[in-house]
Amino acid sequence: TGQEALARIAGADDLDTLEALRVEFLGKQGSISGLLKTLGKLDPEERKVEGPKIHALRESVSEALAVRKDTLETAALDARLAAETIDLSLPAPSTPRGAVHPVSQVMDELAEVFADLGFAVATGPEIEDDWHNFTALNMPESHPARAMHDTFYFPDRNDDGREMLLRTHTSPVQIRSMIQQGAPIRIIAPGRVYRSDSDATHTPMFHQIEGLVIDKGIHLGHLKWTLEAFLKAFFERDDIVLRLRPSYFPFTEPSIEVDVGYSSQGGRRVVGGSGDAPGHAWMEVLGSGMVNRRVIAAGGIDPDEWQGFAFGIGVDRLAMLKYGMDDLRAFFDGDVRWLSHYGFSA
Ligand code: PHE
Repeated sequence: TGQEALARIAGADDLDTLEALRVEFLGKQGSISGLLKTLGKLDPEERKVEGPKIHALRESVSEALAVRKDTLETAALDARLAAETIDLSLPAPSTPRGAVHPVSQVMDELAEVFADLGFAVATGPEIEDDWHNFTALNMPESHPARAMHDTFYFPDRNDDGREMLLRTHTSPVQIRSMIQQGAPIRIIAPGRVYRSDSDATHTPMFHQIEGLVIDKGIHLGHLKWTLEAFLKAFFERDDIVLRLRPSYFPFTEPSIEVDVGYSSQGGRRVVGGSGDAPGHAWMEVLGSGMVNRRVIAAGGIDPDEWQGFAFGIGVDRLAMLKYGMDDLRAFFDGDVRWLSHYGFSA
């Protein structure tokens, strides 16, 4: 009966049950559809009475189905919304953030310091030829200084016959700059260099910043002032003390190695003061000198007219000294825990 159908619809607990009822009443084989089919067999008088009743029943049943469907759907949505509520009091998952590597950081700092001193940045290839890396720098074949570089050579020569290697220092950029731009020059050349060497203070790949000034009347005083100015700015200390030691590089004459005084405080190196003071020591940070006139000539510049100084800074050493690290190899292990220990990740 109609009452019964409406009661069952109102009592349907879920959408599947409701759909089954729709099929039972209104589907092709449904009971109400069946009633409608019987109308055709009735005589006209009876049809006039029964027809509207059956249609009214169909109306009320489909209306009830729609109402119930709406109710169940709203309830289902409410339940889902309640289940998916965001708990704003939960701690947020942490988002790891990348950071600048200490070597890159120090490279940037150095480039900035030298920019203030009027130096432009120059670059050269890491895969270099023998001539730029050695010969033009006054190290002809069989020169004993070549042996000190532990060079990585490529097994085959280039198509144009050049012997290729991984540059052992940034000094070949001196030659490239001289040939490319001529005098005067005031550049730094930061980059990677390679030597077959590995222990706590040596890695097969490391970083240097080359400096080159070519101008008229340049002398050792300019070199000393420049090095002092840059080291004070880099370490942000005025009490930096340098020790200039006579040395030898084939491409500079005279040649000077520069040490920085430091003390160890709580196992951490702190730059400042004379290395000869009690509790202090010296650390070598760079090689330098007046550019050898044969090198100026190899760069296509007249050494009678132009003079200059050059220096090569060990960037990784400087980073260790500034940030108190003691094993160079850790720089290139890529261990995020090490980086964050030194405050390089947020
Ligand atoms: N190229 C030298 C080295 O790698 C450093 C240096 C550069 C020395 C410039 C003097 C002048 O050891």
